[in-house]
Amino acid sequence: MRTVHVHEDPAQELAVRVAEVLASGNPTSVALSGGSTPRRLYRLLATEYRDRIPWDRVSLFQVDERWVEPDDPDSNWRMIREELVDRVPGVTAHPVPHRDPRAAERYEETLRSALPRNDAGIPVFDLVLLGMGADGHTASLFPGTAALEERDRLVVVNEVPQLDTRRITLTYPVIEAARRRWFLVAGPDKAEPLARVLEGEFPAGRVVPAEFYVDPAAGTGPSAG
Ligand code: 6PG
Repeated sequence: MRTVHVHEDPAQELAVRVAEVLASGNPTSVALSGGSTPRRLYRLLATEYRDRIPWDRVSLFQVDERWVEPDDPDSNWRMIREELVDRVPGVTAHPVPHRDPRAAERYEETLRSALPRNDAGIPVFDLVLLGMGADGHTASLFPGTAALEERDRLVVVNEVPQLDTRRITLTYPVIEAARRRWFLVAGPDKAEPLARVLEGEFPAGRVVPAEFYVDPAAGTGPSAG
């Protein structure tokens, strides 16, 4: 159910696999996480791996977004745009609407109109790229928050009291419906939570099946490797 790939440079290893998926269909779709870890992955896709990917057949989506303006340094879309979208020709981009009270409904409509659906009517991504916080969150599915229990809506605005903010996030049903769920996790602060996630703990531990691309610093927990 969970596969762990420990690699000196997991972003590089993952870039090869992502490029294969994005070159394998017409069209293809990928939902991208934010945070700091995937920045290098996105840059690699837009530079070293750029010519392996038929960008005009690729649709990019977001896994989650912070409650900020699009140009805010904390905006996940800003990072994705700067590292990837602005560097590749002809890609179709579907950013989450920023600071919009109807963001969840609007983005769910986007998913429903842009993606194929499974037998249960849920939109299916070819790939969802996920990260993991030191508190075990993934996407913006934070421990103890309402979004963890959502089974009907595909996108929600999630109140996150521990950060005193709200986030817009994909929910488990649409993450589970994807054809692939790949995590990129790096750094020593992720080792202990990752070991627990691999035992099924925390919001990230509920995402199965999944593959984890991790660096040695994060991958030294008892269950990894
Ligand atoms: C975000 C995310 C989030 C991220 C983790 C890990 O908005 O922050 O999309 O789920 O993947 O927080 O973030 P880091 O890579 O910065 O540790």
